[in-house]
Amino acid sequence: MSNQPQAPTERAEADTVACSVSDGIAWVKFNRPEKRNAMNPKLNRQMLRVIEELEFRSDVGVLVLSGEGAAWSAGMDLKEYFRENEARGLDAIRQAQRECYGLWRRLRWYQKPTIAMVNGWCFGGGYTPLFGCDLAFAAEEAQFGLSEVNWGIIPGGGATKIARELLSFRRAMYHALMGENIDGRTAAEWGLVNEAVPLAQLQARVEQVARALLAKNPVALKATKDAIRRVGEMTYDNAEDYLVRAQEAANFHDNEGRKEGMKQFIDDKTYKPGLAAYDKSKRTEGKR
Ligand code: ACO
Repeated sequence: MSNQPQAPTERAEADTVACSVSDGIAWVKFNRPEKRNAMNPKLNRQMLRVIEELEFRSDVGVLVLSGEGAAWSAGMDLKEYFRENEARGLDAIRQAQRECYGLWRRLRWYQKPTIAMVNGWCFGGGYTPLFGCDLAFAAEEAQFGLSEVNWGIIPGGGATKIARELLSFRRAMYHALMGENIDGRTAAEWGLVNEAVPLAQLQARVEQVARALLAKNPVALKATKDAIRRVGEMTYDNAEDYLVRAQEAANFHDNEGRKEGMKQFIDDKTYKPGLAAYDKSKRTEGKR
């Protein structure tokens, strides 16, 4: 995986993230292939700008995050994020942490469904955007690793929490202590990603999933993705209460969509919710 183009000079901040929008899908890419998409302060700042700009656009319904070249992301940029900031002192370190934690927190609670399309290397700090995305699909050829231990730090910036959140205790412990890589197939088997497919089929599979999401009620999608994240830390009773209120709030924002969904099933008998989503285009009233 080392036949990457070398940038003659340092990339401009605006060029560290690539983005295009097509038929409702925003395709966003880490764009430092010559550094295996390691996340430096410039990339983090640009990524925040890009995802913020896309978040409330009416022509975007799903965001896909992938990487240019051979990597998804080789994690934090060890030179810029660690060595150079440490040389600048505590304020620089805290500022960089704030920028980068804030960015991925923003992604975790994003307005639209998000999909990580892991095309290649995914290390350490790369687990934060991986978990920030609601769904994750990997190339079978991709390689995942908590490599922190290999250079002498703990998996910080959320990576340890993410390993415990997504993996079993034994797997998380082995993965973090050993610093060995797993491929996309193993990542799917362990629950780090939803699915692994050959790299050549990855984009088509992700697009298929994105299209299915685009056909569904966006208010229901946002309420559902937030609920899945929130209830993990609640008692059963607290979750039950939260979900009652989440549904009532969603009803306020989308009274007509769910009524239309019910009507098409119960009255029109044009679809079965157990088998597909209602036809959003037939909606005659309501905002969404
Ligand atoms: N930070 C800074 N620079 C990086 C990083 C990184 N995380 N990853 C790659 N680069 C740079 C390399 O230093 C090299 O720069 P140069 O061309 O100026 O010498 C360039 O990207 C290309 O990297 P190579 O190592 O030559 O690429 P190769 O394809 O042979 O290997 C691999 C890819 C395995 C991803 C390797 O680059 C690597 O091990 N990177 C570090 C992965 C890692 O452990 N990340 C940190 C996780 S911990 C954390 O995020 C907190």
